[in-house]
Amino acid sequence: MKSAFDQIDLSKTPRHVAVIMDGNGRWAKTQGKDRIFGHFNGVESVRATIKAARRAQVEFLTLYAFSTENWNRPKEEVDALMDLLVSTIISEVAELMENGVRLLAIGDLEELPMKCRDELKVAIAKTADNKDITLVLALNYSARWEMVKAVRAIIAQQIPEQNVTADVIAQNLSTANIPDPELLIRTSGEHRISNFLLWQIAYTELHFTPIMWPEFREEHFFEALVSFQGRERRFGMTSEQTELTK
Ligand code: FPP
Repeated sequence: MKSAFDQIDLSKTPRHVAVIMDGNGRWAKTQGKDRIFGHFNGVESVRATIKAARRAQVEFLTLYAFSTENWNRPKEEVDALMDLLVSTIISEVAELMENGVRLLAIGDLEELPMKCRDELKVAIAKTADNKDITLVLALNYSARWEMVKAVRAIIAQQIPEQNVTADVIAQNLSTANIPDPELLIRTSGEHRISNFLLWQIAYTELHFTPIMWPEFREEHFFEALVSFQGRERRFGMTSEQTELTK
């Protein structure tokens, strides 16, 4: 069967793709199972997405794994998600090493359970020299939390008002040194950003797919890249101007 991969122009793949993994709970319901079953099955989609991104030569892949608002879910679900994160990080670290995946995490990591923080630290240190792709896990992350933190950091550095530029703000976000995503994918048919990377997605192309996260596979990722490459990104300019900058 022909794959969407063959339609991707590898010389123009986005450097950074961000993903809002959504639909685990609803998918589980369709299977007559509880929400946690959906999260468990979502791990295979995480694996598939990393593989696909690496194959398409994407340099940075950011996955929204837990938002600051997710603490409001039932305690059993939050606990299960944290346990799943810890066990997945432990079980996947060998695979990350084999595939040249460097792991990073953004978010309010201090508020995560100790076990989760510790395992993250170990995996981040272990994979630090891997060069094929950087996987950024957004954990206990929200864009507004990050912006408040950046403003506080800028004030604490006593940066004079006239020196506070867009670059200074970007350097004080948790994504400092990570390029802005060119493409953001959200699964499950929802058309929302849900407090994810609000500063960084100013010019990002958005791709919404009805596929529920546990069913998301390599081919869906490639389809998103093909759709992205078929778009004209103008950055506020006219079509004629963007042609000249190519
Ligand atoms: C959204 O579905 C999914 C999450 C909040 C958690 C995502 C977590 C995983 C896929 C587990 C493993 C992840 C890593 C990175 C190891 P939802 O619960 O909001 O679904 P719903 O919208 O149908 O309720």
